[in-house]
Amino acid sequence: MRKIGILTGGGDCPGLNAVIRGVVQKCLMNDIKVFGFKKGWQGALSGEGSELTFDLVEDIHTLGGTILGSSRTNIMKIEKGPEKVRAVIDKLGLEGIIAIGGDDTLGVANKLQKMGMNMIGVPKTIDNDLSCTDYTFGFDTATNIAADAIDRLHTTARSHSRCFVVEVMGRHTGWIAIQAGMAAGAHMILIPEFPKSIEDVIEVVVDRQWREKHYSIIVVAEGFELSGMDQENIETDDFGNVRLEKKEIGPKIAKMIEAKTGIITRATVLGHLIRGGTPTAFDRVLGTKFGVKAAELAIDKAYGNMVALQGTSIIAADLEKAVTIQKRVDAEFYENASYFFR
Ligand code: F6P
Repeated sequence: MRKIGILTGGGDCPGLNAVIRGVVQKCLMNDIKVFGFKKGWQGALSGEGSELTFDLVEDIHTLGGTILGSSRTNIMKIEKGPEKVRAVIDKLGLEGIIAIGGDDTLGVANKLQKMGMNMIGVPKTIDNDLSCTDYTFGFDTATNIAADAIDRLHTTARSHSRCFVVEVMGRHTGWIAIQAGMAAGAHMILIPEFPKSIEDVIEVVVDRQWREKHYSIIVVAEGFELSGMDQENIETDDFGNVRLEKKEIGPKIAKMIEAKTGIITRATVLGHLIRGGTPTAFDRVLGTKFGVKAAELAIDKAYGNMVALQGTSIIAADLEKAVTIQKRVDAEFYENASYFFR
């Protein structure tokens, strides 16, 4: 009987379990066994995991997180990492691996594919920054939670005539910040794609005071950097990503606003709150469709591809292209949002 591996790597994301269920259901119905690796590439290195059955994945699409666990293990940084993965694949008799992850996890899958191992990618990240797909699953849930939180901050900010700086995830791009900020009526949105200085921010806050709008909500993506400021030297993870939680851009901007304007300013860092919990209906359905399509690619032995959403269709995109080009917020979207920066 044919057999395929599956793993979830990188930061978890609502909708992962829907993908796993989709893959397992479709593969088992086509006589392909599915081996679930524990903790992402860490499991593929050690062989830790077990076979997934219909019963094990029943109804899991409504659950947040991942039943397989995740890690940020970079096998390219481990001595003989790829060789160890190849040995595990051979030992377990797998045809290949379905890797569910963001740019780091799928970047590794792409390298292994080039080394002759069979890989299929599924685009996962709340950050929504993978190219070739209109949306990654998890993004919808994260932005809805963030928008709800910003709505709530509006009422307390208005009651106390305060300024709030709300920091949301978004390492390289500002998709979450712009989507949630626009939905919840932020007075300014700061994202990595479009530089702004502290003076630009203060101008909006002070102008609102003048217009007797005695409160402001500023939404900032964690990866944003104020223009004209010195870069800090901050530690990185296994993939070379800066540990952004140590940078605290939101609290920093809040302190600067208060110091320069005298307006009481608070910072709220939403952090992992928007990544946890149950997925929205959109993410459950997108995850399920991605899982089924990934299984279809495995059935057809169409390796080296990543499943993707284009328009309303689920298609197979080239894995290499998807991991090498980053999808960034475009000028038109930012311009639309900026009409409301006042
Ligand atoms: O998975 C992407 C992401 O959510 C980024 O937005 C964020 O910078 C990072 O994960 C946080 O990683 P960790 O959970 O390891 O702190």
